[in-house]
Amino acid sequence: MAGTEPLRVGLAGLGTVGAGVLRLLAGNGAAIAARAGRPLRVTAVSARDRARDRGSDLSGAAWEADPVALALRPDVDVLVEVIGGTGPALAAVEAALGAGKAVVTANKAMLALHGAALAARADARGAALRWEAAVAGGIPVIKALGEGLPGNRITRVMGVLNGTCNYILTTMEKTGADYADVLADAQRLGYAEADPAVDVGGIDAAHKLALLAALAFGTRVDFAGVAIRGIGEITLADIRRAADMGYRVKLLGVARMNADGLEQRMEPCLVPAGSTLGGLEGVTNAVAIEGDAVGQVTMVGPGAGAGPTASAVIGDLVDIARGNVRPAFGLPAAALARPERSSVGSEAAYYLRLTLRDRPGALAQVATVLGEHDVSIDRMRQYGHRGTEAPVVILTHPTEGRTVSAALAGIAALDVSLADPVALRIEEV
Ligand code: NDP
Ligand code: HSE
Repeated sequence: MAGTEPLRVGLAGLGTVGAGVLRLLAGNGAAIAARAGRPLRVTAVSARDRARDRGSDLSGAAWEADPVALALRPDVDVLVEVIGGTGPALAAVEAALGAGKAVVTANKAMLALHGAALAARADARGAALRWEAAVAGGIPVIKALGEGLPGNRITRVMGVLNGTCNYILTTMEKTGADYADVLADAQRLGYAEADPAVDVGGIDAAHKLALLAALAFGTRVDFAGVAIRGIGEITLADIRRAADMGYRVKLLGVARMNADGLEQRMEPCLVPAGSTLGGLEGVTNAVAIEGDAVGQVTMVGPGAGAGPTASAVIGDLVDIARGNVRPAFGLPAAALARPERSSVGSEAAYYLRLTLRDRPGALAQVATVLGEHDVSIDRMRQYGHRGTEAPVVILTHPTEGRTVSAALAGIAALDVSLADPVALRIEEV
């Protein structure tokens, strides 16, 4: 397919990412054309508001109000879908693939729910379906995993995959600023999803983890199989107390193939402050991939925003322009196995946040409950007094998640327990 004819791009969505793609093509077009072997030309665009200034010259591109009509235009070879969601975006992607056209998308929500069906549709028509921008923004992790590591049996993939959450957690830590103010900043900077509850609830990051797991383990995307917990219950006190004990709080995704099936977890975890993942600041993402031959490969970079995401979109377009076509999830869609879900979680140490009545014997009662559940205490610290309340943090030795849950239920039932206890996993990274 590569040649000197331009690759004709239909750009659906002119928001943060779409406008970023236009700017990147305008600024680096000649170098991109040289690398692609031919120019990339945006021949048609689609958005809701035709009158809005997008900061780029669109006079050479046709306007289509309907993204499906955009996808089916004869002067569009490849659809770039950066609308988001599963409404018009999905319809346009289905239409393009059905017509045998290549698709580049940043839409992890759509792929997490419809990835297997879209991959089958792409295979049926021999069309490319590329999604580098959907996971970890500017980090070329899909290319690394799909093309750089096929000699490995992948054993674990983990990552900090949501820029908004990491921005919130690290900015709160640094400035002591209020959660709502920091989230508003992340929205203003173009990091957050249209509905930021999807970010802070862990759902966006879980979409990305499910996609990475499918590629890593050769399975169909199983978003419903991800155990998800967001950052809503994390307080500034948790962040400070974790730091006090040598850790940082990260919304961390882990996918691992256990003996009985696939384990996928997205939850706030403590990671060692001195580790690569522990050192991530702001909107930075990281993905660590473990393979039996290579060991651990960790990639770090900006996980959201116009420039980084546009960079990933252009990477896919250049591959398509050069005729580098591979199956969307590394294997033909028909060969992707439906994963069994693992029923045993891997063991970990836990951080327990307790709010106890400040009176003699309170800690002894807690220790008894932990002992009854065979949960062993590694470290413990009481953080002064708030009136009659004593905030206490306990770090446990490694144990199973369900054991910790049972112990927490026991602690919550004690009359010395003044607020629901919270447990955060301490992940070895
Ligand atoms: P924005 O909300 O900034 O942009 C969405 C664009 O889609 C807007 O231009 C909007 O038009 C257009 N649009 C909405 N509905 C329609 C419709 N029915 N027909 C045609 N156009 C429509 O989103 P982002 O650019 O931030 O995100 C786009 C996608 O990229 C999402 O899937 C997101 O998850 C993903 N993504 C975003 C990243 C980021 O950092 N922002 C990073 C990685 C992935 P109008 O402008 O006229 O309202
Ligand atoms: N809302 C997403 C984030 C955008 O904050 O990571 C990048 O996928």
